[in-house]
Amino acid sequence: MNKLAVALLLAATYTFQASAQSNDLPHLEKRDGHFALIVDGKPFLVLGAQINNSSAWPSTLPAAWSAAEAMHANTVEAPVYWEQMEPTRGTFDFSGVDLLVTQAREHHFRLVLLWFGTWKNGQNHYVPAWIKSDPKTYPREENAYGKLLDVMSPLSQANLDADKTAFAGLMRHLKSIDGAQHTVLMIQVENESGSVGSVRDFSPAAEKAFEGPVPSSLVRTLHLSEGAWSKTFGADADESFAAYTTAHYINEVAAAGKAEYPILMYCNVWFAYPVHALENRDRPSAGQEYPSGGPQQANIPIWKAAAPAIDILAPDFYSSDFTLFRSIVATYARADNPLVFPESQLGPNFGRYLFYALGHGAIGFAPFGIDRAAMVNEPANPLPIPSGGTALTVPSQNFALLSPIASQVARLNLEGKLFTAVEEAGAARQTIHLPTADAVVSFGFPQSDGAYPPGTPTQQGRALVAQVGPLEFLVTGFESSVSFTLAAAALQKDANQQFEILRAEEGEYVDGQWHATRILNGDETDRGLNFHGSNPHVVRILLHTLPLYDEALHHSQP
Ligand code: DGJ
Repeated sequence: MNKLAVALLLAATYTFQASAQSNDLPHLEKRDGHFALIVDGKPFLVLGAQINNSSAWPSTLPAAWSAAEAMHANTVEAPVYWEQMEPTRGTFDFSGVDLLVTQAREHHFRLVLLWFGTWKNGQNHYVPAWIKSDPKTYPREENAYGKLLDVMSPLSQANLDADKTAFAGLMRHLKSIDGAQHTVLMIQVENESGSVGSVRDFSPAAEKAFEGPVPSSLVRTLHLSEGAWSKTFGADADESFAAYTTAHYINEVAAAGKAEYPILMYCNVWFAYPVHALENRDRPSAGQEYPSGGPQQANIPIWKAAAPAIDILAPDFYSSDFTLFRSIVATYARADNPLVFPESQLGPNFGRYLFYALGHGAIGFAPFGIDRAAMVNEPANPLPIPSGGTALTVPSQNFALLSPIASQVARLNLEGKLFTAVEEAGAARQTIHLPTADAVVSFGFPQSDGAYPPGTPTQQGRALVAQVGPLEFLVTGFESSVSFTLAAAALQKDANQQFEILRAEEGEYVDGQWHATRILNGDETDRGLNFHGSNPHVVRILLHTLPLYDEALHHSQP
């Protein structure tokens, strides 16, 4: 489609949608410590698919949409390239954004746009050529020995102004084409910011700022002692300085964008992975193993203080270490930070990571590189393709199961009624404690009466249980069975009670209403609800209690 046709189509859909839809922008809702992304008045779970870095082009997008469709994603995450959008200073070409928005609508996807601006993976590779080739006007970071890095200096007003102008232009344009339809849900401001190659900027401007005092706003918000960076932050001074200057810069960019069009903005994180090389190297080095100053675990307080225009700090997860995943979830799921994984590797762990994250309130989750499955064998994404399928099999199975109930999952999470269990080595049976019942989850098949469940060879069992009524539950999963027992607290109050199933229905939600497709009973319920990987489905089960022993009944017998 040429530029004019795209512009006309966007203008037409804008006029139509402006009258047809609410003007509520996508926003976060928080209830009792639980979050939801609200889109057009309803909770929305982002089942995302991030396309490869160089795929937001007319020649590559068709394959990207097909891959996202095959994956049953509801949202595509796609980059907007500064170098393409502002090829010469002050001349803007929004055809890339227009194409993304138009084609996403044609393919019935929502979008998350990724602003590849000053930072991309801790470097500057997406800044336009007129910036790259003019380091005098647009200064680079320097390392401690004065080497110019391929990282822009966050201390430079010229760099900041250039990014702000471009980003504000993008947001102004986005408002004009999507202000009513809300195809675009969120904006990722920069990509994995921070500095690769040095712990901080050592340019003359940076040195001067580093010798000065820690800004009083940061001192106040974090209750620090006033003074120079090295005095206040000690051994962490260099990285803390990098974190503050980077967060401050990105906050200015985001605020300039929000002044044009205030939708949700987040920063993705290349966090600090543990280093296991030598016993005495217990900390990864900033600027070497990860970009220094980005919103990695230890920098969260500085980022929250210095970047209030950023709504969410969102970790990218590339590891098969489940313990690490748990710790990252615990670190980023905070009262002031909804959990979102804008990138994760494809591969066999995807399913249990997704379920675990949902059980901790995640509002979105996306695998990276969905339009080039072979990517999984490249270093950044080292997991092998799962046997018996393509790299996309696991994400697509999960999304196929969850996309029809995505809105319910998001709402139940907001209400604090959604729980999950995932298999771990040596833990093939787990109990989810719900307010009115315990759900006992057993992983792996076959399960023999009275025996401990076998688990699965690669610990991939997972289950989701949500409370939809006092004794009614929505249940689903893979490689697991789920049965219900009375909660210990309920038994303590009254030991003379037992559970019975009144009705178990397999079914689906259509326009928010539950529709049963069949009633399950007999072998399908007598030993718990069974969720084999080969037959993904959702069950709604209604229980009731009855006395174990009814005194009155007993005495009325002749
Ligand atoms: C993380 C980055 O954010 C992505 O853009 C991409 O470069 C992946 N790493 C590659 O694995």
